[in-house]
Amino acid sequence: MRILHVASELFPLVKTGGLADVMGSLPPALANRGLDVRVLLPGLPGVLAGVVGLKPVMQIGPVFGAAVVTLCVARLPDSGLPVYVIDAPFLYRREGNPYVGPDGHDWSDNHRRFGLLGWVAAHLASGELDSEWAPDIVHAHDWHAGLASAYIVQNPGLKTPTVFTIHNLAFRGIFPMECHHDLGLPMRKLTPHGIEFHGKISFLKAGLVYSSKITTVSPNYAREICTPEFGCGLDGVLRDRGGDLSGILNGVDYSVWNPADAKIAVPYTVDNPEGKKACKAALQTEFGLSTDARGPLFAVVSRLTSQKGMDLLLAALPELLRDGAQLIVLGTGEGDLEAGFRYAASVNPGNVAVYIGYDEEMSHRFMAGADVLLVPSRFEPCGLTQLYALRYGTLPLVRRVGGLADTVIDINDESLAADRATGFVFDDAARHALGARIRDACEFFRNQDAWGRVQRRGMRQNFSWDDSAAHYEELYRSL
Ligand code: ADP
Ligand code: GLC
Repeated sequence: MRILHVASELFPLVKTGGLADVMGSLPPALANRGLDVRVLLPGLPGVLAGVVGLKPVMQIGPVFGAAVVTLCVARLPDSGLPVYVIDAPFLYRREGNPYVGPDGHDWSDNHRRFGLLGWVAAHLASGELDSEWAPDIVHAHDWHAGLASAYIVQNPGLKTPTVFTIHNLAFRGIFPMECHHDLGLPMRKLTPHGIEFHGKISFLKAGLVYSSKITTVSPNYAREICTPEFGCGLDGVLRDRGGDLSGILNGVDYSVWNPADAKIAVPYTVDNPEGKKACKAALQTEFGLSTDARGPLFAVVSRLTSQKGMDLLLAALPELLRDGAQLIVLGTGEGDLEAGFRYAASVNPGNVAVYIGYDEEMSHRFMAGADVLLVPSRFEPCGLTQLYALRYGTLPLVRRVGGLADTVIDINDESLAADRATGFVFDDAARHALGARIRDACEFFRNQDAWGRVQRRGMRQNFSWDDSAAHYEELYRSL
């Protein structure tokens, strides 16, 4: 079975969040099951620089406002999987964030940049671009690849089934209606039953309406997005497609996220966890935090946005600091939140430290050095950092929402007695609820034996891709 995965980012080539992690590890996991998997990516600078053995397959420009568009094929680093790269210098050779320009605004031609991605996927499916390989199924991820299925159904002779995975429903890929002139989609698609969304166009909605199957990245989020609270205005569409919608939990690439590797101060394992203490001391020292604090070291590795509940955390900070705990933050995002965390660090030297930026290696040091990882999200399709934290013996403290609810088992008398607890869970998206659970964590930290038992249980959890990849394969076979 030949599967083409279509997405805008892939670790380690280009990464802004969890989508890249999934793209870096799901396709190889499917290939290990014997599927013939290829990936299609836009030729962003990180992609062109990071793939191996890039060679042209076909010249396809001018199209989508680009004079020169070349479809190339190469290999992914590490897995060696074949990858198609759309080299369109005018559209893609821009440094920095793949979606946003240096002025902080989305690139004004994003509809062309990502329209082209879906369009090339459809033409690969039709067999017109590569005479040696065409997919049996096209699997598109998030709004950037949302038009793939719209272009595929536009061709009545083309029967390739499609799967569309929602990694984040909040990013709907919305553009002014006029943009349709650049996309080559027929007028009859521009209705509320098609890609029209409140007088505009939504690429994500195209994925929801025209794909054969829809998945999202946790079973709980699959239920939540069918409600007005989490549906981002698309819950009606999702309820209509309910029979074709399912949730498949993301996995973790444990070859990348592993406390036994050399990216951290002193590697450790579940049977020999001593190194974690040294990792904590190293992290505290690196960031000028005092090494004799009484309470736990709380950490954040996250986009600093309201999705992630970072405003709640700032508001709950007095609660956190009351009992001698510490906070360390690695993230970038909304300006006021960045400023809020910077300010918190400046007025709490030795107890709060903040690194505003994006740093992959540092994120491993955070996972290893922290006692608790905070993920107080307002919504969370899956969330990967809580899974990474578990493997590093760092107890996650999460809100009971989306994939966080599916993956962390709350510490309470019952779950402790049953040997099931893995972290701290709270319900309301309110600073008091978060603050109260933070204080519970500080209290629980005083019982180091019980803490150690929960740590070890977390480290033994298995969220590898094996199960999830099997579920995707089953879905493909049903098509
Ligand atoms: P999302 O995709 O919504 O941002 P996930 O939890 O699925 O959330 O994935 C986030 C990914 O991005 C993780 O791999 C996390 O370690 C990484 N990450 C987030 N912020 C940073 C940062 N500032 N520096 C390094 N890695 C980060
Ligand atoms: C999105 C979601 C996150 C999920 C990731 C990978 O960015 O916000 O919850 O883990 O995609 O699927």
